[in-house]
Amino acid sequence: MKIVGVVGTRPNFMKIAPLMWESKLRPGVSTYLVHTGQHYDRQMSELFFEQLGIPRPDIELEVGSGSHAVQTAEIMKRFEPVLLQQRPDIVLVVGDVNSTLACSLTAAKLGIPIAHVEAGLRSFDRSMPEEINRILTDAISDWLFVSEPSGVANLIREGVSKNRIFFVGNVMIDTLLASRQRIEESPVLEHLQLSDHGFAVLTLHRPANVDNLSVLAEVLDAIERIQQEVTVVFPVHPRTKGKLESVLRHTMPNVRYTEPLGYLDFMKLVAHSRFVMTDSGGIQEETSVLGIPCLTLRNNTERPITIEKGTNVLVGLSSKSIISHSLKALNGLERRPCVPELWDGKTSSRIMNVLAC
Ligand code: UD1
Repeated sequence: MKIVGVVGTRPNFMKIAPLMWESKLRPGVSTYLVHTGQHYDRQMSELFFEQLGIPRPDIELEVGSGSHAVQTAEIMKRFEPVLLQQRPDIVLVVGDVNSTLACSLTAAKLGIPIAHVEAGLRSFDRSMPEEINRILTDAISDWLFVSEPSGVANLIREGVSKNRIFFVGNVMIDTLLASRQRIEESPVLEHLQLSDHGFAVLTLHRPANVDNLSVLAEVLDAIERIQQEVTVVFPVHPRTKGKLESVLRHTMPNVRYTEPLGYLDFMKLVAHSRFVMTDSGGIQEETSVLGIPCLTLRNNTERPITIEKGTNVLVGLSSKSIISHSLKALNGLERRPCVPELWDGKTSSRIMNVLAC
């Protein structure tokens, strides 16, 4: 059985890694890895291959950045000849980025079956580009591998047949659990001169938050207040970098800006922080498993299990709310989490059991 796996952006690497490790253990399964090049900086891409032990991509499509239409179309144009040449049995896509949708659509048009890992998540907010990618990818996929019960319910509501839906757990957590020791070995706390649980972590990259300068300014107003209480470490995503200078109204001596960090350094920071403020999807899941309070700077989440069972709280984007939740987290008033069902490090094995049977 030949599987063409697809990656394109930073969060894809943590999701494909355990599937690549698992496929190596299966005689009769061969993989061919395609990197679309949606993310291309070393800190956003190559470093993750090295740290996660992912084989080098068999082909790099080098699409780079562009508008949604340009990027999606360019990936499709460059992916189609790969599929025609490789003739795989399955195209395996993960997550909800433009590369996920573009490669699924290309495969569907060629009649090649698609496996979608992280299917069924819905924010019910169609202004998010990822929501469009999720809905469309799920509609044309043959195997829908779901990470949490809400995903099963969403797919059934959309009329997907039950025999295409597989509740298997969370591949990103496979990577986290498999990497725990190497994460602990990261020297990032010493490099940044941080004390254990003596700082907070901030990440921001959603277009709705950082491309809208009044929203970004409101968040930074809150950070200005919070950094008076606790050091805030802020690895800055390339999308956010260009916007920061135009809206920074305050000097914030207790904020440590860094380049985007590699996986091991970033997870070490998160695991040893007091709390995390983020608009990312995956970090809501990772903090839940690590038991670190997560304040999500959004008005919705496609990952409700992290609120029901984990450490996640939707705090929205008003500076008042961000400050009050941060002070609560600093004072240790958050409740104790429990790990969601099947987030046990064995998800990729369950997926391969389905695909390889
Ligand atoms: C993309 C995904 C988003 C995911 C995020 C993770 C879509 C629609 N969005 O958003 O779901 O959460 O990745 O990071 O697929 N850039 C660089 N170097 C890089 C990559 C990007 O400088 O290696 C800059 C470019 O200016 C680019 C901008 O970042 O225009 C945004 O990159 P893009 O891939 O379009 O979207 P992300 O915001 O990264």
